[in-house]
Amino acid sequence: MTAVAYATAHPNIALAKYWGKVDAATNLPAVPSLSMTLDAMSTTTTVGFGPGLDTDRVVINGRSATETEMRRVSAVLDRVRLEAGLRTRAWVETANDFPTGSGLASSASGFAALALAATRAAGLEWDPARVSDLARQASASAARSIFGGFVTLPAGTPDATFLAAEPMAGTSEWPVAISVVITTYQPKLVGSTEGMIHTRATSPYYAAWVERAPALFERARLAVLARDIDALGAAAEESAFAMHACAMAASPPLVYFSPVTLAVIEKVRGLRRSGTPAYASMDAGPQVKVLSSAADAAQIASVLREVSGVEKVIVARPGSPASVKLVRQGT
Ligand code: PMV
Repeated sequence: MTAVAYATAHPNIALAKYWGKVDAATNLPAVPSLSMTLDAMSTTTTVGFGPGLDTDRVVINGRSATETEMRRVSAVLDRVRLEAGLRTRAWVETANDFPTGSGLASSASGFAALALAATRAAGLEWDPARVSDLARQASASAARSIFGGFVTLPAGTPDATFLAAEPMAGTSEWPVAISVVITTYQPKLVGSTEGMIHTRATSPYYAAWVERAPALFERARLAVLARDIDALGAAAEESAFAMHACAMAASPPLVYFSPVTLAVIEKVRGLRRSGTPAYASMDAGPQVKVLSSAADAAQIASVLREVSGVEKVIVARPGSPASVKLVRQGT
């Protein structure tokens, strides 16, 4: 018996960053990370395993997947087929309500929704930790999008065979916000996997980053538990800049910032100087994510919309866990 499953997941933004893998093949992160799931953006994915297909069929935002995308999606489907004892190919249809592949964490929500929909369509009744581990093997940040609110993902160890993210209890009610400042709709030039491998191989600061990251993670974790936005924001900015400094020191250098990124960061610092707590974080792309209290977010977003070159600002609150529905039973 087969079924069609329909899953929704939100992207997440790391406030204590993951950058670097213990080993590229196992996709285990070299450092622990902490994120907030974003309610205002989402990916929806439908998966059905069906007879009559000779290959997996994957449609992303209404177009056929590229070869690279196909390979990553089929790797997840192959793991699911192995666990479920299925031989049939699958069709997958996925859509984001936000730009894909430009540093807005579309791989996090995309692989979280895929892992959840594929396991459920294959008849596997896995708990969220197991689905998180499956998503993590495709994209480590996706492990965190299985859960809502604030979420942690531990560092891996070389011999680990399982690593899942964990939700921080009760954090979805904290009135904070992340304003996602879109500075371009262009896809990023160097993806995170490629960027991490290059940084680890060539940056003289990689070892220092791996040594430093756990302390920044712990500061962020304690700040979330204490509901201390200033302590969380300070740790988050340090984590983002340490990650980028490490990547910028690679050979050749990896620079994800654009002039608009820097202008937004400067504006965030100006807001802070004038008494509005706001903190910047950047991932493998030129977008800026600004942490603030929920009460200040609308005013911060309207100030940042005025920065020359900013395309759009999306204000997000802590989002819910990924969810799934079985939409049709077949034979
Ligand atoms: O999980 P990936 O391969 O998309 O890497 C995510 C890397 C960062 O977004 C830069 C940081 C993070 O922890 O999400």
